[in-house]
Amino acid sequence: MTIRELQNEILRLKKEKGVLILAHSYERHEILEIADVTGDSYRLATAVKGAKEQTVLMCGVRFMAETVKILAPEKRVILSEKDAGCPMADELTPELLKALQEKYPNAVTAAYINTTAKVKAMSDVCVTSSSAVKVLSRLPEKEILFVPDCNLGGYCAKSLPEKTFHFFDGGCPIHMKAGRRDVQWAKAEHPNALLLVHPECDDEVTKSADYIGSTSGIMDFAKKSERKEFIIGTENSIVEHLQYECPEKKFYPLSKGLVCLNMRLTTLKSVYDCLLGGGEEIVLDESLRLAAKRPIDKMIELGG
Ligand code: 13P
Ligand code: SF4
Repeated sequence: MTIRELQNEILRLKKEKGVLILAHSYERHEILEIADVTGDSYRLATAVKGAKEQTVLMCGVRFMAETVKILAPEKRVILSEKDAGCPMADELTPELLKALQEKYPNAVTAAYINTTAKVKAMSDVCVTSSSAVKVLSRLPEKEILFVPDCNLGGYCAKSLPEKTFHFFDGGCPIHMKAGRRDVQWAKAEHPNALLLVHPECDDEVTKSADYIGSTSGIMDFAKKSERKEFIIGTENSIVEHLQYECPEKKFYPLSKGLVCLNMRLTTLKSVYDCLLGGGEEIVLDESLRLAAKRPIDKMIELGG
C-alpha cells in the first residue's frame, strides 16, 4: 500500500467508526495530514470539549492521552503507541515531588503538563509552554515550586521577577541538546534568519532568540512573519511542517540532534492498527482522575 492509499483507508475507517484523531505538532507530517486536530499540548488538551466522537485517538505521548482522559472521562481515549512516553514526565516521581514540597512548604506547586497523572494530582496548578507565564502571573501566591522542567521554569522566573521560584533539576533531554555553539553556528550560517525557540531550551539558547513560544506559537509566528528565513529551535519535525506550509520561506534546524524518538514511534500503520482495535486504552482510577483534574481546570480558568 502507498502512503496515500493508507491515509485514505485511515480517513474512511475514522469516519466509519466515529474516531477523533488528535496529533501533536511533533508527529510525522503524514500523521498531521490525517488528524482532525493538530497543535501544541494546550490545544490538544482542550480540543475534545464538545466533540461528538466517542473515541479519541491521541497521536502523541502518554501524558497527552492521560490529559484528555482526565478532562473527558466519558470518552474512550487511545494512545497510538503504548511505549510513546515523555522521559521528562517520567523523571519526576511522586516521591521526588513530595520531598521538594516538604523542602518548600510555603510554595504552590506548578506542574508542567508534561507530568504523570499522579504528579498532577499532587500539584496546585498545571501549565503548558503556551500558557505558563500567563497562568503563573495570575496566581495570587508569590512562591512557586515549578516542576519538572527547570528551563521552562527559568523562563517563567525571568518573565515574572516579582515571584520567587524553586525548581526540580529536570528537563527535556531533546531540547537540552541545543546549546550556545549551535546558536553561534546557525546564526553564522544563516545571518538573515530569525531564531524561533521553545522555552524548553537552555537559557543559553533562549537569550539569543527572536521569539520564544510553544510549538503552535513558533508555527504561527513563522507563518505570519514577513521575514523569509527562520532557524527553528525545537523538535525538527516543525522544520518539515513549516516547509510544507510556507514553500516560499526557508527553515533550518538549530541542531540536527533535536529529534524526539517517542513522538516518531507513531506511524500511519500504528494509526491504522488503532482504528482496527489496537493501541492502548487509557484507564485511570476515578479518585486519581479527579485529583489530577483540579490543577488542569485551574490552568484553563487562569489561562483562558
Ligand atoms: P508544547 O506545549 O509546545 O506542545 O510542548 C510539548 C512538548 O512536549 C514539547 O517538548
Ligand atoms: Fe518529552 Fe521532550 Fe519529547 Fe516533548 S520533546 S515529548 S518534552 S522528550
